[in-house]
Amino acid sequence: MAERIIYFAGGCFWGVEHFFQGVDGVLETTPGYANGNIGRAPSYEEVYTDRTGFAETVRIKYNPARIGLPDLVDLYFTIIDPLSQNKQGPDEGTRYRTGIYYTNQEDADAIIPRYNLESTRLGAPLKVELMPLRDFYPAEERHSHYLDKNPGGYCHIPLLTFRYLRLYQDIKNLLGDEPDLVARMAEAASMIGKRMKFFWTGFYRVDGDSLVLGPFCGDEACLRIGYGRGVCGTAWKERRTVIVPDVERFPGHIACSSLSRSEIVVPVFTAGHDVVAVLDIDSTETDTFSPVDALWLDRIARIVFGVETGDIAF
Ligand code: SME
Repeated sequence: MAERIIYFAGGCFWGVEHFFQGVDGVLETTPGYANGNIGRAPSYEEVYTDRTGFAETVRIKYNPARIGLPDLVDLYFTIIDPLSQNKQGPDEGTRYRTGIYYTNQEDADAIIPRYNLESTRLGAPLKVELMPLRDFYPAEERHSHYLDKNPGGYCHIPLLTFRYLRLYQDIKNLLGDEPDLVARMAEAASMIGKRMKFFWTGFYRVDGDSLVLGPFCGDEACLRIGYGRGVCGTAWKERRTVIVPDVERFPGHIACSSLSRSEIVVPVFTAGHDVVAVLDIDSTETDTFSPVDALWLDRIARIVFGVETGDIAF
């Protein structure tokens, strides 16, 4: 199938390119300047003045047989703050605005539902431009694959994001279309636990009025947890991801192991309505989990249970 192209502006193009380089199905990434107002190729220094109208943008060539445009847009939303105007991470200016620039109506039609879903999820209009590409000029050679050329160089995207992207894709690829849910949970628990070096990683499934232990990676754990009890039961009852920086400060925490110091619990929904399970992860250190963990573990849990992002109702 013929390759396709989409343009993403998501703040500093060094990090954005590095992220999309790692996405399965992406064939080529090119950092550059899009939608300016000077009618010619700018230099980085000119764009830096913020007076050329250009946005730092990455051109992404992909194989649509391996990754669809809605999935690319979904991944794009993992690395930007869509409610932030002209600012991503510490970088500020119109050159760092966010935007999805398309080159045909068919692509626009594929993007709009995901765009609207993100807006609904966040409960606010997005600050992300969604418009046709007017012009694009590749950046100077030193900017292409910048973070490969400069390992440890500046990146506004947390490094944890790159580890989760790999983990997410590996789990997705390995689980494939295996229909057995126990096998899917077991494989995922092991991969998450070992790869991220978590102390305890496992699933609890909803069974009547309690959660029952499912496949896990770690020491022996409580077999059942009541609705609203502990961190797991709270995530189930409140239908939201719960991050506990210090378990000793969480009233009602159930200590399966005295070594556990912090915890994250992510609920899993069936097509957006009922909680069917939770993904519970424990750490022996305090303050282990951040919104980056929450975002990716939610995506991973949905892969395990076969609930696509587009299926989720809010
Ligand atoms: N600490 C959890 C119980 C499960 S174990 O961490 C494996 C809770 O309070 O729900």
